[in-house]
Amino acid sequence: MKKYFRNLTAAAVLASLVSCSGTSDEAERKADELLARMTLREKIGQMNQVSGGYGLMDMAAAGEVGSILNCVDPVEINAVQKAAVEESRLGIPLIVSRDVIHGFRTIFPIPLGQAATFDPEIVERGARVAAVEACASGVRWTFSPMLDVARDPRWGRVAEGSGEDPYLTSLMGMAMVRGYQGDCLGEESSMAACIKHFAGYGAAEGGRDYNSTMISERSLRNTYLPPFKACADAGAATLMTSFNEIDGVPSTGNRWLLKDILRDEWGWDGMVVTDWNSAGEMIAHGFSRDLEHSAEQAVNAGVDMDMMSFGFISHLEQLVKDGAVSEKEIDRAVRNILVLKYRLGLFDNPYVDTEASAKVDYAGEHLEAAYQCALESAVLLKNDDSALPIKCGSRILVTGPLADAPYEQMGTWAFDGQKEHTVTPLAALRQIYDVIWEPGLVYSRDKDKSSFSKVRAAASKADAAVVFVGEEAILSGEAHSLSDLCLQGAQSELIAEVAKSGKPVVAVVMAGRPLTIERDLANCDAMLYAFHPGTMGGPAIADLICGKVSPSGKLPMTMLRDAGQAPFYYNHNNTGRPCSGNETLLHDIPVGAGQTSLGCTSYYLDTGYGPLFPFGYGLSYSSFSYGKPELESCVLERDGILRVSVLLENTGNCAATEVVQLYVQDCVGSVVRPVKELKRFRRVALAPGESCTVGFELPVSELAFWNADMKHVVEPGDFRLWLAGDSASGEPVGFCVR
Ligand code: GLC
Repeated sequence: MKKYFRNLTAAAVLASLVSCSGTSDEAERKADELLARMTLREKIGQMNQVSGGYGLMDMAAAGEVGSILNCVDPVEINAVQKAAVEESRLGIPLIVSRDVIHGFRTIFPIPLGQAATFDPEIVERGARVAAVEACASGVRWTFSPMLDVARDPRWGRVAEGSGEDPYLTSLMGMAMVRGYQGDCLGEESSMAACIKHFAGYGAAEGGRDYNSTMISERSLRNTYLPPFKACADAGAATLMTSFNEIDGVPSTGNRWLLKDILRDEWGWDGMVVTDWNSAGEMIAHGFSRDLEHSAEQAVNAGVDMDMMSFGFISHLEQLVKDGAVSEKEIDRAVRNILVLKYRLGLFDNPYVDTEASAKVDYAGEHLEAAYQCALESAVLLKNDDSALPIKCGSRILVTGPLADAPYEQMGTWAFDGQKEHTVTPLAALRQIYDVIWEPGLVYSRDKDKSSFSKVRAAASKADAAVVFVGEEAILSGEAHSLSDLCLQGAQSELIAEVAKSGKPVVAVVMAGRPLTIERDLANCDAMLYAFHPGTMGGPAIADLICGKVSPSGKLPMTMLRDAGQAPFYYNHNNTGRPCSGNETLLHDIPVGAGQTSLGCTSYYLDTGYGPLFPFGYGLSYSSFSYGKPELESCVLERDGILRVSVLLENTGNCAATEVVQLYVQDCVGSVVRPVKELKRFRRVALAPGESCTVGFELPVSELAFWNADMKHVVEPGDFRLWLAGDSASGEPVGFCVR
């Protein structure tokens, strides 16, 4: 049956977001009226954000705090809010904030796993669920989505982002902004999004968190800023500055970033908050003399609210008196804060219904959405001899430290999730199979192999074995970078031990990042990469293992063969000596060989060049064939629209979903251009034997880049495009732009 899919252009997606997420005139008018009545001290109080447990009640009553974080008990929230609203002179309500990163009580896959779905719709559903649950507890501002493009899996925070591609990160971020902010920010189940960490945080040298980033302006504009621009245009209400410095200038004191680009170029009118004490950390950076100086620099650079440095509340009044900071700057900042509070409806309804949380239906749609997201986030990396799916009712060995780890399964930044709600793979598999359960290891770093003999014995009695390995939740996330990405502890040995049984071995990996699992791959017949799948990861993985649903996830980050290859990403420049694939490797170099570099290319003697699996890669239980991309026209004008389609066929024997990906290469530019860039994608479900024509529209304007003149333009010339199931497949077709 032929189907034709038309593609929503990015503009159409954005247009759907304008509605209530734009700043309303009414909120601005009220903010101006209130601002005119405020003392300088009261204004500065609004610019101060304080975490729970830091003397909140007194500060709130004195009008010296504008927002709180890390309070999620409705009764406690109302008590602090009461102090602000009923005891301070002007009664300005607080904004209650929280890191609701991938769910509140119902935990969804980590954002990197959500990116693997290549499904903005399910990601938006997850953000909507998170907003309903968080708002019911009194939270009205989340520090999400994280939009940090990241190309180095050693960085622990890749778990919180959407991977290495700016376009995928943009679409995932916009989906979260829509989900969090809903149709109108003033609705009681809407919360302000916060796009973070602005900017370039994911480029930390060596993948070591908080480290320096050496990013050129052009690379910043072509790679790291686009997701922020997309989400700013999509109506994100707030933005958070990042800890890192860019080429020596900390983002929290970077006027070029926060005023010239964010405000003047982009025209964004939301509210800017620092990261936790990121203003105060400018002292350690060697950018600020002391806390007073850091406060001066942050406000003058364009920051509106100070998270937990206490520099603003301690020094801004004197800085204004000394003329180091103008009251005009203070008014700008406070106006942004007040406008947000009016848009959230906090002046009309500052308190949370303490019964609201109990009224939320956590069981129905919320768990269904979490299940669906976990289902789509798992990436099938290998499936030799159709080891998967495993026939229902079989006798299987379930082993490994992540098989029954309800807390670890939730992943990093899951503060308000409760492990009691997690359904583990062991519990879910027991509903489908005759399970022999032998953990083998207790936790992911466990090196005690003393129970391996029991695992071996159990494997001999089973039809197949499923080994759950990966990372404890704490091994990724903020401040948790790794230099070695191999499975921790004796996990690889556990897989090898089970493999000795000669039974089919399926490895399921739950991790916060792409690990280097090449040696483990060799010891298993199939591997499913599930990231940290959240509350419903168990039922989702079980339904994939038994074949109720075919895996459909695709890698949002390149999977390396060795951590030494990092940073490695598909959308790289070609270099003058691109790898040919015929390189001489270490073991082929004759002893005493003479020095030569002629004909050599950019690769490693030991690991060669290529990754283990490329960006966008993922198998299913079926197979798909792609026809030749058909272009409506091979010659396009710069204001034109590229229209291309491809015949996709499910050539296998089961229903499955393919993520069709459109990549484009600008062959020659005034600066070198990436070998290819993702420009569109779509999930397409097909029955066995079914085919369809999948079409995309791409405005030529979306081929623009920041060129040698630092202008954002489309340069005429030759281009190539691919329509394929990953970034390394397919044959290109050419077109040109006049
Ligand atoms: C943290 C993180 C940031 C988070 C904030 C508040 O240090 O960098 O992502 O939103 O502090 O918890």
